[in-house]
Amino acid sequence: MKRIYLDYAATTPTRSEVVKAMMPYITDVFGNPSGICSYGQEAKRTIEEARIKVADLIGAQNEEIVFTSGGTEANNFALTGVAYASESKGNHIITTSIEHHSVMEVCKFLGRRGLEVTCLSVDKYGMVNPDDVKSAITDKTILISVIHANNEMGAVEPIVEIGQIAKEAGVCFHTDAVQTVGHIPVDVNELKVDLLSMSAHKLYGPKGIGALYIRKGTRLLALMHGGKQERGRRAGTENVAAIVGLGRAVELAREEMSEEVQRLTYLRDKLIQGLLGRIDHTCLNGHSQKRMPNNVNISINFIEGESMLLNLDLNGICASTGSACSSASLEPSHVLLAMGTPPEQAHGSLRLTLGKWTTQDEIERVLDVLPPIVAKLRAMSPLFKGQKMQKEN
Ligand SMILES: Cc1ncc(COP(=O)(O)O)c(C=O)c1O
Repeated sequence: MKRIYLDYAATTPTRSEVVKAMMPYITDVFGNPSGICSYGQEAKRTIEEARIKVADLIGAQNEEIVFTSGGTEANNFALTGVAYASESKGNHIITTSIEHHSVMEVCKFLGRRGLEVTCLSVDKYGMVNPDDVKSAITDKTILISVIHANNEMGAVEPIVEIGQIAKEAGVCFHTDAVQTVGHIPVDVNELKVDLLSMSAHKLYGPKGIGALYIRKGTRLLALMHGGKQERGRRAGTENVAAIVGLGRAVELAREEMSEEVQRLTYLRDKLIQGLLGRIDHTCLNGHSQKRMPNNVNISINFIEGESMLLNLDLNGICASTGSACSSASLEPSHVLLAMGTPPEQAHGSLRLTLGKWTTQDEIERVLDVLPPIVAKLRAMSPLFKGQKMQKEN
């Protein structure tokens, strides 16, 4: 059975072009980029080439890119870096209830150390209201952090508007753009962000590499102390091959983005309409328009998302119920709960995220396979039987 992968928001396969670009830096070009000899200098040159590619994709300057071990480190660096650098200025951070765990947990960590954190709620479509951001700003606010597009339900947030508010208030603004960089246009100047996190493995690059964009003049303390790599902002010998991989992945994303956005949007909408049309008691989670081109997240009432996943897996279809980080827990998604989704509905959520190798045939296969799975599970569901009896009485 040919397997169907529909969990591209969790991670993407590393493209063969990327692996090919990385290989020489695992074998022949093994020099330490901090070294003076030609081995080191060649590696150093390559890192700088990759930095240019990353900067170009997001409209940044080369010196504003710091390579990290991924999105989690970039988010940790942004939030703790600004918090520690701004101790004399203020102690208040504004964030939202739909952030990835790598922002949410840092906020909790900082909160336990005396920082004040305002966590803004979202509407039923998962959208942050820029006016709420404006109202939450105080003279102690040092940072606003709002996710660009949510990894679970795909809503694309009004970052431009929030960026304008942050700029007018003179508050540093960070966005977690791990789900958007390489997928939809991202320009740090249009978005008016001071800090932006990205990760290679979400855009067909290798795992364990990412970057933080730091606008010139933004004050933040380093997380890693040691050598002078990354202009003293992130100590440690650089992961040269992975950085090369990120550079190549970014280059390919740039070339293919506009066509891919159109293709995926078409397939996404076909899947959403097909599922909502063929299975009753379902609803779309997230915004129907302001949505990532590859994200389908639906709640199917009266059954557990995990049982759907297992049954889909038996049919060779790989999906998820939410973020990869929380998929081991049976807690309903904090994102869906924040949108006001009742817990029982949040438990029945299914995330299908499309990508480069998703075809129309695969979408049709999901549309054929999922309705009978739902019917089978509902036939065993006391919740479903209960509601049917209620209706009949
Ligand atoms: C929105 C978002 N932020 C951050 C991360 C963490 O990135 P990484 O896996 O590179 O640490 C992820 C990964 O799932 C994500 O989806």
